[in-house]
Amino acid sequence: MSKSILIPLIAILMLVTGLIAFQFQPVLAFNSIFQQDDPQVRGAQLYDDWTQVTGITPPGNHPIWSRQTTNTRSGVDTWRCVSCHGWDYQGKDGAFSSGANYTGFPGVYDAQSLPMEELKAILSGKKDPQHDFSGYLSDADLAALAVFIRQGVIDDSRFIDPVSLKPIGGDLQSGKSLYEQGCASCHGNDGQAITFRYEGQTVSLGTLAVQDPWRFLHRTRFGTARAPEMTIGLNLGWSPQEGRDVLLYAQTFATGLEQPLSPSLGDQPGGAVTPPGGPANNIITGILTALGAMAASLGFALVLGGLLVGILLLVVWSIRNRK
Ligand code: HEC
Ligand code: HEC
Repeated sequence: MSKSILIPLIAILMLVTGLIAFQFQPVLAFNSIFQQDDPQVRGAQLYDDWTQVTGITPPGNHPIWSRQTTNTRSGVDTWRCVSCHGWDYQGKDGAFSSGANYTGFPGVYDAQSLPMEELKAILSGKKDPQHDFSGYLSDADLAALAVFIRQGVIDDSRFIDPVSLKPIGGDLQSGKSLYEQGCASCHGNDGQAITFRYEGQTVSLGTLAVQDPWRFLHRTRFGTARAPEMTIGLNLGWSPQEGRDVLLYAQTFATGLEQPLSPSLGDQPGGAVTPPGGPANNIITGILTALGAMAASLGFALVLGGLLVGILLLVVWSIRNRK
């Protein structure tokens, strides 16, 4: 093979390497890429609080809200799917069957078997004109909600004791190691590094796990629009049982209720303390983070190196060929 063919061949090879590395760039920066794109995750976060996800503030109370008088919440909260249908997706048949959250509205668990189009029709007011969210949510978001209902809704009722709110069965050791690998870097080994608003109080993970295991599970699996950077169970590949194992472990944390409430937070929702973004305080997470960063910069080096060397060789080759 003559030299004149070899050089452009190497050049093209380098260019291709560069382009392939470029393709893989987003994969190398593996931190929760799917969070924004996966319709199931988006649907779950819309179910939690679509007003927060979209930034839209609907007016007054939801029209259906006036069909009940037991639940005294008002305003934006009354528009959230979860306020009417529950964190356990069982509505009046689940955790909201009594107490301040009772509305008498049904759950969405049984709607899992409905086809996509019918679910979208229900959300567009085709069955009940007041149950119409199509004026606020895009077609893609209505579809994401339908995907979540069909794929993401889990029945945990057999696994959580309705009185003690403790997981039935479960593996504490598995919960501990999953938590320490995936969550401790932000929430702390004791679960107290981040606080947030829960029923008018500033609390940390332990309190939430003890008082509202279903909200804990939903947000652990699918995350929350309040924390787009959070690692979530679904992306970690956790099974429903592994989620409940982490719940079991989180119930052993101090509740944090003994901490003084910060007056400056007022009743504002989402009074989060910024998570310690810096160095991971857990060895495994630390190593993983370091490996991720190395992989990402290696990918970047391949992109630049490949492209530069490729271009350089092409230039050399074309100059040589001119004579
Ligand atoms: C203000 C209360 C309220 C809100 C908010 C609400 N719903 Fe509903 N939903 C109901 C009621 C009541 C029904 C029963 C049928 C009807 O009257 O529309 C229902 C029915 C449903 C059904 C059909 C259940 C079945 O088994 O047939 C689905 C699915 C559903 N809602 C999903 C949602 C989703 C997703 C959201 C958020 C975008 C939402 N709902 C917001 C009150 C509410
Ligand atoms: C990158 C940092 C980070 C990681 C990793 C992380 N979280 Fe979070 N988490 C947050 C932030 C920030 C919030 C939002 C607090 C707020 O509402 O303002 C949050 C909120 C939550 C909530 C919701 C609290 C509520 O308001 O109901 C739960 C539950 C939770 N995290 C559990 C977990 C679990 C379990 C893991 C491990 C899979 C985890 N988090 C990993 C940062 C993180």
